[in-house]
Amino acid sequence: MPSDNESLTRIETQARSELDAVADAESLERWRVACLGRRGRLTLVLRGLADLPVEERKRVGTQANRLKRELETALQEKKARLAQSATEALIVERIDVTLPGPPLPRGRLHPTTQTLRDVLDCFVSMGFQVVEGPEIEWDHYNFEALRIPKDHPARDMWDTLWIDYEKDGERPMLLRTHTSPMQVRVMEQTEPPIRVVVPGKCYRYEATDPTHEWMLTQVEGLAVDEGMSLGDLKGTLADFAHRIFGPDRKVAFRCDYFPFVEPGMELRIDCFLCGGQGCRTCSRSGWIEILGAGMVHPEILDAVGYDSERYTGFAFGLGIERIAMLRQGIEDIRLFYANDLRFLRQF
Ligand code: PHE
Repeated sequence: MPSDNESLTRIETQARSELDAVADAESLERWRVACLGRRGRLTLVLRGLADLPVEERKRVGTQANRLKRELETALQEKKARLAQSATEALIVERIDVTLPGPPLPRGRLHPTTQTLRDVLDCFVSMGFQVVEGPEIEWDHYNFEALRIPKDHPARDMWDTLWIDYEKDGERPMLLRTHTSPMQVRVMEQTEPPIRVVVPGKCYRYEATDPTHEWMLTQVEGLAVDEGMSLGDLKGTLADFAHRIFGPDRKVAFRCDYFPFVEPGMELRIDCFLCGGQGCRTCSRSGWIEILGAGMVHPEILDAVGYDSERYTGFAFGLGIERIAMLRQGIEDIRLFYANDLRFLRQF
């Protein structure tokens, strides 16, 4: 039974160092029971006082009671500190579900899509309707019905990717080489008047280089009505060129050959890089070709059951990548589908 200053000092030292080590409410309670509980170390000292001689009882009693008060105070302080750090921990770990989440990286439209939308918007504002057609096409629609029979040299204008499917010793299916087959499909299914634009991917069996890809995006246009003339074609396409390339561009039409139009032509704009002087982009000609067009061949109108004496029409086809390249100063068509974010992020 400790009953003197020395043992009180030992009790105090031990109690204080144990209390320092306490880190949670449970060990604090264990500490309280061990020191100040009914059978606690200090309680036993106080109980033993009665057995001491008067002088010693007084002295040890004073010391022990002082220590009791001090330890009780230390206990309360420790309790308060533990409570506070628990709250602080909660604050640190708190999840505020009302806060906005971390921002997601934002995507963007592919440069082809951006230009495609601009081009379609332009024609839609002139009253054209947007329709789409199959990318896997029959030889019939891609060639035959467009006046490009087998063995016709015009087939060489489109190097074709054929589908590996044979019927009667022939391969009648292909990846469409242009969107023109939709001219025939639309006319077969509708009566004039017709005003449609057809966006879509086309495929060619071609070695790639800065101006050729094996896949490209085209927009086909077709307008059929009574009294449709070359003037309508020129007005529509000149307006288109001015809206897409700016009102100051000069436009010019030049004869070109496509089996499904008569007459056939290409639309050119004056080179905006050199102002018509002649540079690399315009192959020193001062002009840049932007699309093919023409009056729908009467034989095609008759073949779909239209009266070619009554109805006339014009058609055009343009490559979206080419237009995007000209508008954005892109020098290599292969960049569009190379999936290089350093390129794509610029648009
Ligand atoms: N289909 C032609 C091509 O791919 C373009 C064209 C369309 C020409 C319509 C005239 C009329 O080259």
